[in-house]
Amino acid sequence: MKISKVAYEPMNEVHENEMKILNKLLKKLKNNEDFKKEFEEFFEDVKKHFAFEEELMQKYDFFAYLPHKMEHDKIIQELEEIKDKNKEEMLKYFNERFLPWLDNHILTIDTVTAGFLNTIRREK
Ligand SMILES: [Fe+2]
Ligand SMILES: [Fe+2]
Repeated sequence: MKISKVAYEPMNEVHENEMKILNKLLKKLKNNEDFKKEFEEFFEDVKKHFAFEEELMQKYDFFAYLPHKMEHDKIIQELEEIKDKNKEEMLKYFNERFLPWLDNHILTIDTVTAGFLNTIRREK
C-alpha cells in the first residue's frame, strides 16, 4: 500500500517505518512462517507511533486530540484481540481492516493534525 504524505515530516517517517515493519509481518504470514516476533515488533511500533502523535497533540493543545486518540485506542484494542489468532484471521484483519483504516486515518485526522503541527512549528 502506498501511504499518503502529510504536512509534518516526522509523522511521514513514522508512517513509512511502520509500513516496513508491517510488510515484514505480512510476508511471514503469507509464507506460513512463525510470525510471533514480527507481530510483537509491529504492535510495539504501532503503540510508539500513536504515543508520538498523542504527545505532540497534548503538548500543543490540539483541538481534536480526543477523537484522534479514540481512533488510536480502538486499533490498539483490536490488535490486542487479534494477537493470538491464526494466520488466516490475521491476514484477513490486516487486509480488510487495518490497511484500509490506516489509509483513511492518514488521509483524514492525521492530515489535519499534521497541518496543525506544521503551523505551530513555523510560528516558533
Ligand atoms: Fe499516524
Ligand atoms: Fe494518528
